[in-house]
Parts: sequence; structure tokens; C-alpha cells
Amino acid sequence: MSQAFKVGVTSDLLDARGEPVCGREPLRALDEAPGLAWEWLPTGIREIAAGHAAAFDAIYINSPRVTAAAVAGPDLRLKIISRHGVGYDSVDVAAMSAAGVLVCNTPAAVPRPVATIALTFVLALAHRLLAKDRLTREGRWHERTGHMGIGLTGRTLGVVGAGGIGKELLRMARVFDLKLLAADPYVDELELADLGARKAPLEVVMAQSDFVVVACLLNDETRHLIDASALARMKPEAYLINVARGPVVDEAALYEVLKARRIAGAALDVFEEEPTPATNPILALEHVIVTPHSLAWTDELFRNIAGTAIGAILSVQRGERPRFVVNPDVLSHPRVQRWLKR
Ligand SMILES: NC(=O)c1ccc[n+]([C@@H]2O[C@H](COP(=O)([O-])OP(=O)(O)OC[C@H]3O[C@@H](n4cnc5c(N)ncnc54)[C@H](O)[C@@H]3O)[C@@H](O)[C@H]2O)c1
Repeated sequence: MSQAFKVGVTSDLLDARGEPVCGREPLRALDEAPGLAWEWLPTGIREIAAGHAAAFDAIYINSPRVTAAAVAGPDLRLKIISRHGVGYDSVDVAAMSAAGVLVCNTPAAVPRPVATIALTFVLALAHRLLAKDRLTREGRWHERTGHMGIGLTGRTLGVVGAGGIGKELLRMARVFDLKLLAADPYVDELELADLGARKAPLEVVMAQSDFVVVACLLNDETRHLIDASALARMKPEAYLINVARGPVVDEAALYEVLKARRIAGAALDVFEEEPTPATNPILALEHVIVTPHSLAWTDELFRNIAGTAIGAILSVQRGERPRFVVNPDVLSHPRVQRWLKR
């Protein structure tokens, strides 16, 4: 009898009650796949080890890192790392390509929910939502005239990164009659024009936007893309929103401009260090909204992500190319050629 196709799932995809965060439905596809055996990996794993790569054909990961060391062992069995979400900066993709391991992600599930949180932040900042919540609870009702919001009509929203999330946000923002700008060196001007947005250099987006939304991927090029000099270009009445990855923004520089009130405020779903320590001085600022890299999390998002991530694993089990391969160069690797059907 042929050996079962073995799948490991990282336990940070379980909630505090021990229930799958995506619900049970998407996991049923693993239960029902013939010739497949799956299990939860032990809790608390921060990094996939060579032992895991020798024991499993596929690993469905959330937070643990996957470094070159994971695939350096002599008994490599791993065929695919399927990542829960779109970002894959926790995976050493070059090392996976060299070892003949596919890296897959779930980009189709993400744009709508993450664009929705960017818009949630825009609306909450514009309407002073948190300040007014505090006024109401603290018996400071009479102070409300001191907390006027800003209307969106004719104001400017600029996205830094117009990929899946950035474009979806531009689509959603049109109903508010905002002027739309986008800084993304790799996206076509005409494609942006179709969405009602003008392509502009980063400096222009920083200088002209009332809301700057960071929505690019994190890589060597974008690390600290929003540094002190980029922040210095912002208008004093402008807001910075980061829904992408913390290290795209120089957090220390952001703290300085916020503390000095050189910009109006910020909203951050992501931080340079996660979990962000309670001592992070940004957390003490009242004109900043913070959320623990999870504002986008909904039943719909997790169901769709898990469906795609598990679908990729089942494709590999069948010997087929999954839909979203981050490192397509790996498809010609001899290890992949051995299982990939033509
Ligand atoms: N907050 C969350 O829960 C959450 C959820 C999903 C994704 N994310 C993050 O959002 C990022 C973007 O997601 P996506 O689905 O839009 O990815 P995507 O790959 O579709 O888009 C990324 C965009 O960044 C652009 N880019 C690259 N270099 C740039 C630069 N120097 N300046 C400006 N833009 C640049 C690319 O051209 C691309 O259009 C992900 O990589 C991930 O890190 C966060």
C-alpha cells in the first residue's frame, strides 16, 4: 500500500477553546481526502524544524517561520508550504525554491477584508470615533464641539502599494468622492486610471494625501519605505494608516511625528515587533488607533483563506500545480518534476 500524503497544520490556527479559527468546514476537505493523513503540529512552535520537513509532505502554516535550516536536512519530504494569508515574509522563499518546495499563499481571499479595515480606519479617524466613544463614557458630552471630524468629499486618499488590497480600497473609496492617488512603481498608470486613481511618486502621495494607506508588501525595498523623510512630507492634518506590515513604516520616526503633532494621527493594525510590547510609546497616544494585526479577521476571511490554503495542498497531493504559487521558478526543480503531472 502506498504511503499516506502527510499534512501538518500549525496549532496557532486553533483558538483559545481549541477550535480551528477557520471553523471546521474547510478542514473537512482534509478529513475526506483519500490517502491523506493530517495532524496539528505541537503548540508553541515558532519555527518549522528539519524534523517537520522530513515528516510531512505539506505544512499549512500561520505564524511560524520557515528558514533555510528547515529544508537543509537529508530526509526532505516536504513538497509544499501553504501559508495562511497573503504575506510570506516569514518564509525563506529562495531557500524553498532551491530545495524544491512550493510556497503558496491565499491572495484571492484577502483584498476585500483588508481593504475594508483600511476604510474602517479612514472613517474612524475622520469621524473621531475613539475620542467620541471616550467622551460619552466619561461624562464629557458637552466637550463634543471640540472634536469636529473631517468630511471626506474632495479630500485625498493615497495608497502606497496598489496590489490586491490597494486596488480594492481604491474601488471602495470611490463612493466617498475622495481624490485617489497611488504610489506603486510596478502598477500600470492606465490600470489605476480605470479605478479613478492617479499614479504618483511616493513623495507626492505623502505630501498631498489626507489619508496615506500603506498597503504594499514587505521586502528589502519596502522596509522603512515610510521613514522620517517620507513622514516629514505629510500635511499636519493628514493621517497615516498601516494595514500591510509593521516594518514598512519606521515606527520610531512615526512616534516622533505623532508626539510632536506634526501629523493629525494614525491607525495601525501592524507593528515592527509583534506582539507589540505594552511599553511601545505609540500605545499611549490618544490620536492613534491600534489593533493587534487582526482587525480583518472575520469568519468569512478565515473560511476563504483556509479553503484556498487547503485547496493548494490537495492540488499537490493530486500532482497538480496549485493556483497561487509564490515561487513558480520551483516548478522546474527536479524534486517537483517527480510529482508534478504534465
Ligand atoms: N493586516 C492584515 O491583516 C494583512 C492581511 C493580508 C495582507 N497584509 C499585508 O498586505 C500586503 C499587501 O497585500 P496584497 O494582497 O495587496 O499584495 P499584492 O502582492 O497584491 O500587492 C503588493 C503591492 O505592493 C507593491 N509594491 C512593491 N514594491 C513597492 C514599493 N516600493 N512601493 C509601493 N508599492 C510597492 C507591488 O507592486 C504590489 O502591487 C501583504 O504583502 C501583507 O504583508 C496584511
